[in-house]
Amino acid sequence: MTEPNGKKTAHRNPAQAAAGSTPIQGIREVFGYLRRYRNQVFVLKIDDVLMSRPLFSMLIKDIVLLQQTGIRVILVPGAKHSIDKVLKTYRVSSPMKDEVRITSEEAMPLVKLGASNVTNALISLLSENGAHGVVGNWVRARAIGVLNGLDYKHTGRVEKVDVQLIDNMVQDGLIPIVPNIGWNLVGRDYNLSSNELAMSIAKAMRASKLFFIGSEPGIPVIAGCSFADAGEIDSGFFSNLDIEEGNILLRDYSQSLRPEHRELVSLAMDACAAGVDRVHFIDGSQDGILLQEIFSSVGHGTMFYANQYDKIRAAQPSDIPEILRIMQPYVEAGILIQRTAESIGQDLEEFAVYKIDDTLHGCAGLHLYPDKSAELHAVVVDSNQTGQGTGRKIVSYLLDRARKSGVKTVFLLTTQTSDFFMRIGFREAPMSTLPPEKQAAYNTDRNSRVLTIAL
Ligand SMILES: CC(C)(COP(=O)(O)OP(=O)(O)OC[C@H]1O[C@@H](n2cnc3c(N)ncnc32)[C@H](O)[C@@H]1OP(=O)(O)O)[C@@H](O)C(=O)NCCC(=O)NCCS
Repeated sequence: MTEPNGKKTAHRNPAQAAAGSTPIQGIREVFGYLRRYRNQVFVLKIDDVLMSRPLFSMLIKDIVLLQQTGIRVILVPGAKHSIDKVLKTYRVSSPMKDEVRITSEEAMPLVKLGASNVTNALISLLSENGAHGVVGNWVRARAIGVLNGLDYKHTGRVEKVDVQLIDNMVQDGLIPIVPNIGWNLVGRDYNLSSNELAMSIAKAMRASKLFFIGSEPGIPVIAGCSFADAGEIDSGFFSNLDIEEGNILLRDYSQSLRPEHRELVSLAMDACAAGVDRVHFIDGSQDGILLQEIFSSVGHGTMFYANQYDKIRAAQPSDIPEILRIMQPYVEAGILIQRTAESIGQDLEEFAVYKIDDTLHGCAGLHLYPDKSAELHAVVVDSNQTGQGTGRKIVSYLLDRARKSGVKTVFLLTTQTSDFFMRIGFREAPMSTLPPEKQAAYNTDRNSRVLTIAL
């Protein structure tokens, strides 16, 4: 697993080091994702700055692979650098205001030339790799007009996306390439923001994923931001942000975000709110990053998603093999006691699981006692996925569940993990505080510590 800063992720505990990630686990994961993503729409906005990078042709190769596996790919090329180059060649100035280009009558033909240079280059690269890209006029636009006295001239906004026409292209096995040029009903042309265009297409096409592929590792963490976890502070980039966190970012930390990041966060929030499952910001100059982001549960860059609780749900019988799999390294390290499929099956309704896409990242159980106490047990996070806040989220989810069930005290027994729980608010307590049936079943050989928290 490579972190956005390029370093290898350190194993955080002995069981994790012992477990590693086996190739067979990786292959199973890929098959799961292939099944899941077949026929789904992915919109990929690609910054044209990447076109001069040595690995750009590999990125295109990977995109063609995606399309060949049955994913419906739509490309939206950014053309800023290409347009700047053409404008410079013809010595035409086109000033920017808050990241938006003001497109004069004179600049507009050059903007179109810059945009078509990018789409032509993409079409050649796609065909080199055996795919057919097609460029078309599928977006209706309207003028931004005059804002605060400033006339944006030929700069426009997306008014409508022709879903049916784009859908026909994808169904025919083509890769639509949507340039940042749109026309209004009377044929006037407008220069559009490729980021906004990608977001509008993702919404209109009900995409399951929207990618902003640029040359940065993700959205930088903001100093003092309450929801940045240790791994994110370490790497310097947010790895996951849900809608609530994204909104806090825009509301409370707006001035600390660079304007281009503010725009991307805001577009990602819009897309997630409209039903796009995931929005990813990734660095396309790193080899294979797109495939890793799609076909593995290890994340790169920054991912936005609709709701953090959508990852946690009650366990189902089909989760049992995965629960046993993530427990195994800790059992071998003597941290957990061995459980069987049968014993987990008997207590299944007590378990909550934390899943991202189809992969189990963690689980925990809550057993209720008649004296309004409850035991937290089998708190386990996959040894390849620790340090991302999963453990704390499952514990707080089950504490909420306990509170709602009228529980007054939650306790747990642990041999090696007391510090983790004490940071959440648990405190050491004598065995006499346990319900009598638990005291009777206490295994003196393990000599576990008792921790409790009052709700
Ligand atoms: C303990 C465990 C659930 C933590 O899961 P996680 O998803 O990595 O936890 P989070 O990301 O929410 O929190 C990570 C923090 O907990 C700390 N932590 C993790 N394991 C710890 C341990 N055994 N002792 C003390 N602190 C620990 C990390 O150092 C990290 O601290 P930081 O935020 O200062 O960097 C996971 O390591 C695990 O499954 N351990 C083995 C099973 C176990 O011991 N379960 C508890 C018995 S019921």
